[in-house]
Order: sequence, then C-alpha cells, then structure tokens
Amino acid sequence: ERQVKEALILVNEFAQKWYEDQLYNTDEGKSIGLSYFKSRGFRRDVMEKFGLGFAPTGRNGLLTAATAAGYKEEQLEQLGLVRNKKDFFWDRVMFTIHNLQGKPIAFAGRILKKDVKAPKYVNSPESEVYHKSDVLYGLYQARQSVRKQDNVYMVEGYTDVISLHQHGVHNVVATSGTSLTPGQAKLVKRQTENVTLLYDGDKAGIKAALRGVDVLLVEGLNVRVVILPDGEDPDSYMQKVGVTAFEEYLTSKRRDFLFFKADLLLEEAGDDVAARSAAIRSSIATLALVEDPLKRAGYLQQFTGRLGLEESLLVNLVNQAVAERR
Ligand code: GTP
Ligand code: MN
Ligand code: MN
Ligand code: MN
Ligand code: MN
Repeated sequence: ERQVKEALILVNEFAQKWYEDQLYNTDEGKSIGLSYFKSRGFRRDVMEKFGLGFAPTGRNGLLTAATAAGYKEEQLEQLGLVRNKKDFFWDRVMFTIHNLQGKPIAFAGRILKKDVKAPKYVNSPESEVYHKSDVLYGLYQARQSVRKQDNVYMVEGYTDVISLHQHGVHNVVATSGTSLTPGQAKLVKRQTENVTLLYDGDKAGIKAALRGVDVLLVEGLNVRVVILPDGEDPDSYMQKVGVTAFEEYLTSKRRDFLFFKADLLLEEAGDDVAARSAAIRSSIATLALVEDPLKRAGYLQQFTGRLGLEESLLVNLVNQAVAERR
C-alpha cells in the first residue's frame, strides 16, 4: 500500500519535471506557456516554487517519455495523466498540487484560449495519492508562514495563492473550486486556529463563504471573513492596488463570521420584520456551532449590542439552537 503510493508519487514527480521541462526548454512551451505566465506577472522563482509547467498540444508526449523512462502505462492511467493511450492534459498551462511533504500528488491544467468551450480548469481525478477533499492547494508552501502568522487566508483559486505569495502574503491556501470540506478544516487546524476567508466579491464567492463559515466553526476554528469588491478576486485586486492597499483592505474589511453573516442577511432583509427575524435566526444557528461557551457568549454580547435587542431573548435563542444542534 505504502509502496504503491510511493511508486505513484515517483510517476507524478516525473510528470512534473516533464511539464516544467516543456515550459522552460521547448519552443512551444516558451512561446505559449511561459509568455502566458509572464503576462500574468508571475516571477520565475515563484513559478518554480509552485511547480508550474506546460502541457503541449501533442497528445502522447508525456506517455512516450514516461514509458521510455520505465514507468508503466497503468500507473499513468491510475493517476489520470493518461487516458485511452493519450495524454490527459494537453494545450494547457499546468499547476502542481503538492502534499504536506511537498510531493506532487495531482495536477490542474488551465486552458489558454478564452474562446474555447472546454472547461477553464481540468484536474487530476481522485487516486490512491489524491483525495481532493483532504487537500488544500498551497498548504505546503504556506505552512511556515501560517504558523508564524497564526492565521491562514483561504482563497478560491490557484492563481490567487500564487499571486499573493509573490507579493509577500505567504499564508494563503485555496480550496480550488470545491466547497470547503471538514477534512480541509481539520487539515488547517493542525497549523492554526485562525482562518480568514478571502473570497471573490461576487454572488458565488459570498455563497461559498457562508457555507465555509459553518464548516470551519464545527471544527472549532476562529473564523473571519473578507469579501473583495465585486468583480475582483485576490489576484486581480492585488495586481490592481498593490500590496500596501491590499493589506489595508484586509485589515479594514475583516469581520468576525457572525457580523459578516448577520450584516449580509439583514441588509437583504431590509426593514421587513419577518425577513429580519429569519436573518437573525439563521445567524444564531451559525453562532450555535461555536463549541466554546466563552467565545459564544463573547460574540453574542457584541451581537446584542449591535442589534439593540433584549439580551435575554437572544441568549434563549442561542441556547435553544445549541440544544438543537446536529
Ligand atoms: P484565473 O482565471 O486563471 O485567474 O483563475 P481563477 O482561479 O481566478 O479562476 P476562477 O475564479 O474562475 O475559479 C476559482 C477556482 O475554481 C479555480 O482556481 C479552480 O480551482 C476552480 N475552477 C474554476 N473553473 C473550473 C473548471 O472549469 N473546472 C474545475 N474543475 N475547476 C474550476
Ligand atoms: Mn477520500
Ligand atoms: Mn468568482
Ligand atoms: Mn477567480
Ligand atoms: Mn483569477
């Protein structure tokens, strides 16, 4: 079992080197892949740190090279690198997904052309070495900084991680398109108790943040949220305003999960009494996920102050919600 996994990781290591070699040392890679990454402002050292690469338009380059080097087609298939005797990733720029030991366990390929109907990103399938619900993109590169800062920023995309990292914000990981899972929450908890969700300023980003908050709270994490201006993601906003203004934005917009959720729902509710009650109830259900009674009381105190409602009323509602939890 362990040997099987180690063997598969060796295959992925070969593939990563091959994609990198294509990117830096072939005409196609340089003129298409490297110039794409350069157009996004990625620096060479950061590209190397994240194992970026290039999968050329040919459909059997990796298969041929890997089998010639002695790797088995069956292993390439198991890892999703090859499908039906053809390379699975082609005509895409490549992102390596590492485990906590820095070993490549999977890949993601981004399409280059805007007009094509194919999905923007394709990912390696689940395999013996890749369980996507237990992986956070960039955690290997972020780990030291996460511990030092005692906080991790969670973003939506691969390029958000890389871009922030390049600008000196190293404590960043991505969920990579899937919604945040309990496994991912447990994974961060081994590094820090403090998570800041930093999601896109669009409907999808806000919805993902609302769901993510609950998942993180259940694992006992302290959760804060920053929503970016509409239409921006962490990468685009960093490129637009620069690191100083970006960090200022983080500090000034960062809110505890409860106020993020309550403000959002209350704003939607307007002055409709029934809608406001539902918003408060829903916020209280989230607050009830906080296991630590002291923290819960602290948040509640701030919350009552804000709402201008009778404290005993809210205390009762929270206690009810705690009793009904799960
Ligand atoms: P860029 O457009 O290159 O800046 O990437 P992005 O990370 O900003 O992409 P986007 O905001 O559209 O999506 C966020 C994340 O969701 C991506 O980094 C991917 O992990 C994932 N994702 C987006 N589109 C797809 C897709 O078509 N298929 C899959 N499997 N994942 C996707
Ligand atoms: Mn699994
Ligand atoms: Mn988005
Ligand atoms: Mn994005
Ligand atoms: Mn983006």
